[in-house]
Amino acid sequence: MSENRGTFGGILGTIAVVGGSVVGLGNIWRFPYMAGENGGAVFILLYFCMSLFISVPIMLSEFTIGRAGQGNSMASFRKLSKNRLWQIVGIMGMLTAYIIMSYYAVIAGWSLDFIYESAAGNMMGHSPEELSTAFTSFISSGTKPILWSLLFLVLSCGILVFGVTKGIEKANKILMPLMVIILVGMVLNSLSLPGWGEGVNFLFEPDFSKLTWGVALKALGQSFFSMSLGMGAMIVYGSYIKRTENVYRIAGIVAISDVTIAILSGLAIFPAVFTYGIEVTSGVELVFLTLPNIFNQMVGGYYISIAFFLLLFFAAITSSVSLIEVVIAFISEELKIKRIQSTAIAFVLIAVVSILCALSQMPDSPISLFGMTLFDFNDMITSIFIMPLCALAIVFFVGWFLSRKVVFSELSSNGRYPYSKLIKFNYFMIRYIVPCVIILLFVSGVLSLFA
Ligand code: TRP
Repeated sequence: MSENRGTFGGILGTIAVVGGSVVGLGNIWRFPYMAGENGGAVFILLYFCMSLFISVPIMLSEFTIGRAGQGNSMASFRKLSKNRLWQIVGIMGMLTAYIIMSYYAVIAGWSLDFIYESAAGNMMGHSPEELSTAFTSFISSGTKPILWSLLFLVLSCGILVFGVTKGIEKANKILMPLMVIILVGMVLNSLSLPGWGEGVNFLFEPDFSKLTWGVALKALGQSFFSMSLGMGAMIVYGSYIKRTENVYRIAGIVAISDVTIAILSGLAIFPAVFTYGIEVTSGVELVFLTLPNIFNQMVGGYYISIAFFLLLFFAAITSSVSLIEVVIAFISEELKIKRIQSTAIAFVLIAVVSILCALSQMPDSPISLFGMTLFDFNDMITSIFIMPLCALAIVFFVGWFLSRKVVFSELSSNGRYPYSKLIKFNYFMIRYIVPCVIILLFVSGVLSLFA
């Protein structure tokens, strides 16, 4: 991608690729467990508002930098500003992509294992306890999760060597709608379970006593993670958006799809969590403990579970290519080496940390940092610290350093879409509201989480 700067084809194609990056494990795996750990409805309400009012302006800011700068996350800053300090944002973004990818590959590996186990028929006809024991022994085995995550990385890098856009664009147009259909089927099934009332209450009835600064900061982090923001992935993708495209429409549709898929996933999971007596605070493992029980209940569960995990794997790989692309584009352009070599380097670097992350998930694993598993630590450091700070730098750059003329011209596609009120509103958000909200949540959230 980085060697010949192509463009996405048309609005559907653009939404397919940007949507491919945005919709991923963040919606189906991370959203439910974060909601479970952080009080349910309160977290979801915050996540919803932040996605629409904070994340959309940030996405538009990243698009603006990418479209005006026409380069990778660091090169775009270099082109738009003489001050070299801004390039640090590009470097931080690259490091974030690297860290996220190292644990993303582990979870994506789990989804590969679940495809295999579903197809082999090992998921059906078991009690919730048996399923949970089987999952624990899978994670504890160490080697299996490692092999699956390496396979996932090989597949992702394979796609990246051959270039991303064309294949992903086509596949996403078919597979994303399919995923939504299966998810809706699972929601309908979950709503017929005895625990549906409790599940729906947990998701939609806010208990404001659970509201803390820490929860708000985590909701912001979830929104950034889910919308692929705060590390320059959307700068890179923005640089591929055609000049004639309406960026508002893209950001709006992508944000609404992202939130909708997360909520659907919550609606599929939580009724089952309560029905089968799974702890809402199970953390990282929540979704993988819950899903097999849902498929055990469904008519045609055997086929649906294979299809679902295939789609989950697909959602993961279209996101992971956008993450790894940030690392590859950086290595190949900054070190001036061939794409295939930089892909190999990125693969090795990511694989090493992925293996450590997988090992840190084993019971009693000695691999930990500050009392957390390496896995949890990597997730925390990126979503609570680096992404909010990078996002802050990005909106600051667009709001206060880029000239108003450049920003307005990018946001309106050179005046082709003169939605002046919308543009003025977003510019106002980017300059004042978004930076203030991020600073407030960051400072108060960090103080409350680590006090
Ligand atoms: N948004 C993806 C998901 O929900 C993950 C992802 C892809 C991402 N690219 C990113 C997260 C860039 C942060 C930044 O699974």
